[in-house]
Amino acid sequence: MVKLNGKKKIKISVFISGRGSNLKSLIKFSKRKNSNVEIVLVVSDNKKAKGLLISKKNGIKCLLVNYKNKERAEKKILINLKKNNIDLICLAGFMKVLSKNFIKPYINKILNIHPSLLPKYKGLNTHKKVLNNNEKFTGCTVHVVNSKLDSGKIILQKKIKIMKKDNERTLSLKVLKQENLIYPMALKKFIDFNF
Ligand code: GRF
Repeated sequence: MVKLNGKKKIKISVFISGRGSNLKSLIKFSKRKNSNVEIVLVVSDNKKAKGLLISKKNGIKCLLVNYKNKERAEKKILINLKKNNIDLICLAGFMKVLSKNFIKPYINKILNIHPSLLPKYKGLNTHKKVLNNNEKFTGCTVHVVNSKLDSGKIILQKKIKIMKKDNERTLSLKVLKQENLIYPMALKKFIDFNF
């Protein structure tokens, strides 16, 4: 952590694989006056991730990692996290599952956002599953990452009512809008309790 105006700034790395809307909202949050977080490094496993353009536009370092060999990829990421003195990792649409060995040095220091009301609908295609099951509500969750998929301690959730006319596309847009709002809120809450 670097000290700024006498206050410690928490160094964050955001992991992405695609669009980067959550990355954008986290960057916006980090640039707020009196913010105590700094996004130092963006990690992507996908060279075509649109989020990479967002990080470049904001002058944030990017690390592109080839995941053909997962062990090697994770080693490379860990080295770069250490080099950049990263305190906290935010997964934001990162499509790779982190190994136990990777999580170990960052236990309770990795957050993730998931487009469902966890513990319901872990994994992929959440909106489709939710609609198929005629759920009345859905939402999004920010949680701590542990070695089980989408299973760590929940930090914050936002519930959304599903309308009759909703389809996968409308639902994913509605949920994403809420994701972008709650991720910075959850990050703040987590930091206030843990740092
Ligand atoms: C979000 O829906 C997030 O919940 C999921 O992947 C999507 C990423 O969106 N894990 P974006 O890249 O942040 O726009």
